[in-house]
Formats: sequence, C-alpha cells, structure tokens
Amino acid sequence: MTRLMASNDQQSRRDLLKGAVSSIVIFGAASNYRPALAAPRDRQIENLISRMTIQEKAGQLSIFSDSTRIPTGPINPNATPTTTDDIKNQIRSGKITALFSARGAAGAREYQRISLEETRMKIPMVFAADIIHGCITQFPIPLGEAASFDTDLAMRTAAAAAFESTATAIHWTFAPMVDVARDQRWGRVAEGAGEDTYLGEQMAKARVKGFQGDNLKSETTVLACAKHFAAYGAVQGGMDYNTADIPETTLRQVHLPPFKAAFDAGALSTMSSFNDIAGVPSTGNHHLLTDILRGEWAFKGLVVSDYTSEAEMINHGFAKDGRDATKKSIMAGCDMSMQSGLYWDHLPDLVAKGEVLMRVVDEAVRRVLGVKKALGLFENPYRSMSVEREVQDMRKPENIALAREAARKSVVLIKNEGDILPLKKSGQKIALIGPLGDDKTQTLGCWAIFPDFDNAVTLAQGLGSQIVDRANLKVVKGCEVNAAIEGGIASAMAAAQAADVVILAVGETQDMSGEAQSRVEITIPKAQQDLADAIAATGKPIVVVLTHGRALELQGAIKNAQAIMAAWFLGSESGNGLADLIFGDFSPSARLPVSFPLRSGQQPLYYNHRRTGRPQTTTNGTEYRTRYREAAFEALYSFGHGLTYSKIEYGPTQISGPQMPMNGQIAVTATIKNSGIRQAREVVQFYVHDKVASITQPVRLLKDFKLVDLAAGETKTIEFILTKQDLAFVRANLRHEAEAGEFDVWIAPSSVGGVAAKVVLTA
Ligand code: BGC
Repeated sequence: MTRLMASNDQQSRRDLLKGAVSSIVIFGAASNYRPALAAPRDRQIENLISRMTIQEKAGQLSIFSDSTRIPTGPINPNATPTTTDDIKNQIRSGKITALFSARGAAGAREYQRISLEETRMKIPMVFAADIIHGCITQFPIPLGEAASFDTDLAMRTAAAAAFESTATAIHWTFAPMVDVARDQRWGRVAEGAGEDTYLGEQMAKARVKGFQGDNLKSETTVLACAKHFAAYGAVQGGMDYNTADIPETTLRQVHLPPFKAAFDAGALSTMSSFNDIAGVPSTGNHHLLTDILRGEWAFKGLVVSDYTSEAEMINHGFAKDGRDATKKSIMAGCDMSMQSGLYWDHLPDLVAKGEVLMRVVDEAVRRVLGVKKALGLFENPYRSMSVEREVQDMRKPENIALAREAARKSVVLIKNEGDILPLKKSGQKIALIGPLGDDKTQTLGCWAIFPDFDNAVTLAQGLGSQIVDRANLKVVKGCEVNAAIEGGIASAMAAAQAADVVILAVGETQDMSGEAQSRVEITIPKAQQDLADAIAATGKPIVVVLTHGRALELQGAIKNAQAIMAAWFLGSESGNGLADLIFGDFSPSARLPVSFPLRSGQQPLYYNHRRTGRPQTTTNGTEYRTRYREAAFEALYSFGHGLTYSKIEYGPTQISGPQMPMNGQIAVTATIKNSGIRQAREVVQFYVHDKVASITQPVRLLKDFKLVDLAAGETKTIEFILTKQDLAFVRANLRHEAEAGEFDVWIAPSSVGGVAAKVVLTA
C-alpha cells in the first residue's frame, strides 16, 4: 500500500503552509523560487551544462512530435516541423533534441547522427512514443487488461511492448496512464486501470516494472512516464480537458497513489495533465509539481508537459501569453515543454531579464540530461536503433502467444444464464451477428498508434479457426456501428432463425473512446440496439460480446441476453482469445475494473462512494432517499463482478481476533469452494469499511486481492493480513492515518458480495 504521509509533524505543517501560500510564492519574483529537491550532480552533465548557451538549454527542455506521422494533437506549423528536412535542420539548430511519435531505426539513426556530429554540444537525442498497449503486437487496452487483475500479466505485456518499441527506435513511452477514472463518460477511461485506486496502484507498478525492467540502459527496455499528473480522471462531467474541482484530501486519497506507486517502482518521468485542480492548471501547479512531487516524494525524474498544456494555460486564463506561460510552467517544476515550442521561444529572454533564474533552467536541464544518462544514451547513443532488430523482433511468436493469453484473461463474463456458455465446437449452429464481429479495424483499441490491422484476428476468424465444421458458423453484419444497413436486420434475423445460438458482437468503435472522446450517453448506438432487439424477437439464445472502451449502459435485448461478455478492445489476438473462452478451452477469470451503471445519468458512479445521510436500503423505501427517480443508487454490475464457468461459494469472513491494536495485525480468512465441475481461477477480493471517521468514508474500499486457482470440488482457505495501513485514510491534516474504532472487513467475490466481519481498532 502506498503511503502518502509526511515524514513528521514538522514537515507536515511546513507542507500545509507551503500549499496554502503556494500561489503567492510561486508566481512572484524569480528569487522566491525554491526547488524542493535538487537533482543529483553528475560530472559529465555538469560539464555540459557549464558549456551550453541558454538557447541550447531551451532546446534540451523541448520535445516535438514527428509530424510527418499522424499527430496525436493539434499541429501548429509555426511551432513544429512538418517535413523530414525541417526536422533535420531543427536538430542542427539545437531546437529538436527529443522527438515523439517517430518510429523507425534508419530514420532515428540519421537524426541521432546529425545530433552527435552536426551540433555544437553533441548531446544524444531521445525518441518517445505513446506505447500504451503494445507497439506492433497489440495487447488489450489497459482498462481491459486491468480486468484481469493480473499484475504479472500486465508486467509481461509491458515488457513485450518495450521489446518491440526498442526494435524500432523508441526509448521512452508515454505510459502508463495511471489516472483513476470514476466517470465512464470520460473517453480516457480506456487508457487506465479503471475506477479503483488500489487496483490502479498495482497496475501502475506492474506496468512500470514491465517497461523499465531491471536495467534502463538495456537495449530492450523503455523509460516509463506515469501520466497525467494529476487528477485528469476527475474532470467534471467526464468531459475531456474540463476542470477538476476536488479537495486535496480526495486528490491525495484517490488520485495520487497510483502515481506514487509508479514512482516507487522506478518510473523516471511524469506528464503534467491538461486539467486544472481547483483553478490551478497542473502544468503551472507548483504545489503539485514541486512541493508534493519533489518535496514529499523525492521524485528524481523529469516532468514533461502534456501536448501544449503549458500554452493552454493561456486559454485557461492562468497565463497572459506564451512568455508568461513559459515562466509559470518552468517555475512550477515542469522541466520539458511538449510541442508548443514556448520554452525555445521564451526561456532565453526570461533568463536575460532575470525573470527566470538560470539555476532554475539548469535544474530542469540536469533532470532531462539525467534521464538521457539513465537510458544509457551518452555511452550508447544508437541504442535500440538496430535495423536488423526492427525486422526480426516484431510479432515474435512468444509475443503473439502473450497477446492471446492477455486477451482471454481480460474478458469479463458478466452473465451466463443457464450456463449457455461455453458453446460447442461441433454440433451447434452459431450465427455471429453484429458490426463488430468481423472488423479488423475495431480490434486494437484507441492507442494503437502504429496499427497493424492486417494481422489482427477478428471474432469471426477466431471462431472460424476453432469450430469443427465451418458451415456451422454464419457471419452477418446486420448494421453498421452507428447506422442501419438496408436489409441488414432481415438477413440477421434469418441467420438467427437458422442457428441454435446467436453471438451478438456489438458496442463501440475504437474511436469512441480515448482522448477527446467523452460521451453524454454511454449506450450502445441505436442501430445496434435495434438489431439486438430484432434478434431477440426470434427467441434464439443470445451471447453478447461487447466491444468497448468504458463501462456501458446496457438496455433491452443486450441487457437481457442469456450471456454477456465484456471484451473491451482485446488487441491483435482478439478473436483467438475470445474463441478460447467461448468454446471453453479456458474459463473466464477477469473482473470489472469499472461499474456498469443502470443508466448513463448515474455518472459518476463508482463502488467506493462515500456514505450519504439518506442511504437507500432494502427496508426503508425509496422516497427521500439517495436515488434518482429512474434509477437506484447502485450499479447494474458493480466493480469486481465477474463469473467463471464454475460455481464458487464463499464462506463468511472470519477474523483471528475481534480487536486489533493500532500497531498490531490480524488474519482475515474465508473458505472458498469450487462447487462446480470445472477448474476456475477466482479473483478473491479484500475490502474494508471504516464505520465512523472524521471524514466520511467509502462504503467499501478494496485493499488487496488474490488470484486463486481451484480445481472442481476444491476448497481453499484464503488469508489476508489486516494492518492499520489498510484502515488509514487521508485525514483533514493531509496525513495518511488510521482512526481507532469499528470496521467491517470482507473477503468477497465483488464489491457488493461477501459476508462481513467486524474488527475493532484500538488506540
Ligand atoms: C495526450 C497524452 C499523449 C500526448 C502525446 C496528448 O494529447 O493527452 O496522453 O501522451 O498527447 O501524444
């Protein structure tokens, strides 16, 4: 568990004071600036800094997109190069010292050569890209992979992504995205680990370890970047780029721990988020980027702005112009400017006029060069730029196998009435209906920036390669994702009528989630709903396979289908992974990392909400209670929910003693029995609730989980050790502490299941 505690009382009071006055100290005269933690000194780097001009320093503090490729944001041709020749010239001028969205060993080698041979300082360049869920071999989107609750898997897929990235000249990935996302309207839910902080911490750690490995200098590891710092997932109304108006207790309790976990795991970079927090845009937020990040956490890596976020402080109304924005972001602790070119344009003059001290700039340069050094670029500037590896190391069989394993471990079996699943490979006629059953372009997910659609396996292909008699599989589109097709429903109904079972492949397209893809209604588009409702009228049993980047509101025939699989975007091996489950070669084992609402309008909806003064219970009726007219205050399928092909029974939660002294611990156990006839992997979850506290506490909070394999008929006793750290929360004094009193603890199959035990924590 991550602890966000100040080290002692003295420190904590000082931090509080710093936070309260930060806006005065930070943006006043340059001489007020106090960096919280000086970067470590290194002779080679100090020597370079002592010889660099301010313009060369500003170049080291800038990164630009290789906009000869598909851009990941708006392009301003005045600020960014648009051709390869532009890029080369700007490398020569010292403006381009880092490039992102570039890939390709030969091109990178040439750029690196120019930097080493044709610039005065001969400092190696660094190449970055958004390798979020794979490079060429794509793995499930991070939200899907989080559903596996399998941190070892997340580590292995990140390592595989690093392996392929470094075969194509990428040193630095802008991942993992560790934003906690409690509002499913927000399109970027797809990129992270979902609504829960603890799961977010575990996935953050695993992904950082996977990307960076044990040795950042290796030719096959990449620098990780925990993003977007911070509270980007808390944007109001789930609307991308919107304001996050949250108290610091919530910031520290909910949104910061996955970052801390990523840094503790060694992540050496972070990206400041687009949003403001309580009116202060993150890129200009000294409290966040300096007091907390470097002061409290002693972060030694670099902070890069998100794509022009320093310039966007002008739109926020927080900076007057580019010059002001440059000053505010560098003074706040943002070391590197992404894409705006503002640091290049304004730092020399700001330093010349004494508005930004040279030592502030030097500190940022020290951090950037420190990261280049950590990557081994000084001694091995052509690292990860092998033209041979680029050919040999893509789509290796072991990575394809891993993509398939990850795909099947990420699918959540939400519902399976009458054990309709698994289906039979022979003797059963299947109609695969829907626009997402056989479309390669909708398999990879929102961040496949180098998409290899040709090699992607659709559900139709996956089923087709496993079914014994191919004639027993009929594939019909029925409609487009967002539009009806003439005669589509009729042909789909005919196929359904001729089949024993229908697999309905419906949901969202890839571009309906991800950046800038917030939705008002998180429903399945009408054309598909109409198709589903028509198919249901045939009376044939339906297995719904959802393709999606967020939790969805399910309606009508989709909600009422006999079986539902949440299949996210599963990546290159999508169809094979799904077929492995649908035909029962493997049992599903994933759990929802986000709650599926009853209605879209319930957003934000997350299992670990605070208690209210008028809770709705089964006995107190619904009037004057916390609910909507049209929906209760609950999920259709809550966080942690998911089925296997077997039947797992939980005994009551038991404790080794009813009382726990503040510095003691107790064992919490439960007996779990596989009473079905198949082997199963169960995600056993451990939750707590603090019944009376100085700040009202969530109804439940996940504190741990275990993946437990159970053979048919097998019983196991599962144990979690409870300590005060599990019961602590961020109090009004911003310290992470437990308060004595009564707690409920559960060992449970989901955030709403299980039978609680009571524990008293004594002072
Ligand atoms: C996104 C980041 C991404 C960056 C570079 C931005 O628009 O918010 O997540 O890393 O672009 O592509």
